[in-house]
Amino acid sequence: MTVEVASAPVHQKSLGHLTEFRSGNHDHDLPQETIDLEIATLRRKLEAKPTFDPNLKFDPAKHLVFKDEYYKTTKQCTLDDLSIGRTRVAPVCDFAAAFPFPLLSQEAVDMMLWEAINPDTIAELARTPNLSTNATRLDFHVNGHTEQQSPFTKALFKSRELTSILEGFTKVKMDPVYECDRGFFNFSLASLKPDEIKAGQMSKEQLMQEYSKQNQKNGEEIPSTLGLHYDSNTFALVIMMDIGDDAVGGETGIITGDNKVYRVPEPKPGYATLIQGMVLRHVATKPITNSNRIACICGYGLASPENLDNCVLTTLKPSVLPRKSFDAFYRDWTSYRLTNLEKHLQYYKEKLLAEFDAGVPFDQPAFIKKCVEMEKYLRQTWCEMEAVNNDKFPPAQFNVPYEELPDYE
Ligand SMILES: [Fe+2]
Repeated sequence: MTVEVASAPVHQKSLGHLTEFRSGNHDHDLPQETIDLEIATLRRKLEAKPTFDPNLKFDPAKHLVFKDEYYKTTKQCTLDDLSIGRTRVAPVCDFAAAFPFPLLSQEAVDMMLWEAINPDTIAELARTPNLSTNATRLDFHVNGHTEQQSPFTKALFKSRELTSILEGFTKVKMDPVYECDRGFFNFSLASLKPDEIKAGQMSKEQLMQEYSKQNQKNGEEIPSTLGLHYDSNTFALVIMMDIGDDAVGGETGIITGDNKVYRVPEPKPGYATLIQGMVLRHVATKPITNSNRIACICGYGLASPENLDNCVLTTLKPSVLPRKSFDAFYRDWTSYRLTNLEKHLQYYKEKLLAEFDAGVPFDQPAFIKKCVEMEKYLRQTWCEMEAVNNDKFPPAQFNVPYEELPDYE
């Protein structure tokens, strides 16, 4: 087989691509006004709290407030419960979603948020979205800061205690994905400019009308910072960092098997939602009110060495998601995938040899199946890279009803 590798990939805005992705996407830098007003105000507010400690260390016993009894009290659903019969790839388990459950203390939330809006981090890593419905100067994301610049957030997402809590819901062994997607912050901030506040004011009645009008719409028409999509990582843990007390809207909306939008109820700061985002079409809605909505997302895959992850590049590659560094992202991605494959190969080889040594007859079809699986894994690692793939974004698949999805095998 030959692979066409473009010497000069053509990226076009009309196809949903970013054109500055090799040089840092500075055309998606934040407006200075947002940095100076809303972000600076938020940071001052966090620093003014009596509990604020810039050197706070992550302590699972103190900062993870989840209790075992929440497994009983948290609403959970399977793909079957959501009437989702067909999926774009094989689901890794029946688990579809666990709806907001208390996860982090307020102190932990404040610290993560404070780390994410550090002025240097904002200047270096914050970018406005590529494609979104009704985005304003107040919508942006920050990612890729946890390894070097945010020790508290890094320790939290690397903690075995946190992953174990999530495994209690999914019943499969999980690992957080690579650094760029451990702690991806989505911001929709409330405007502090008097003219913008005035222009957005609505009566309670108007708000409710607008909200119910939104609920009638298809997922792709709902105002959001991130349109209707599937995630590119197996699971997404979405933690609410801040949501205005008077916010209307702003929830995650999941598209069910009968094409309705199911809004995940009442997120509060420190509460989390866990979804198998790889197979659930969903949308992060924008609040109708002039309210903050700040969420932090961590991607998870199946744990190695027993399994290979099923992550993809679709929504995360630098030509569609504004990021600071093309190379930093691919260092992360290639290292994650090759490490998982390496561990899996080692694990499988040892298992195979142990079987031979124990006198188990060689199962040739099983061996061939495993080789094909690993070939597919390697192919999936590169097949969406910019040098070979310039397909339109978002892909048409994001709007295909579940029941019309083709067979994935
Ligand atoms: Fe998502």
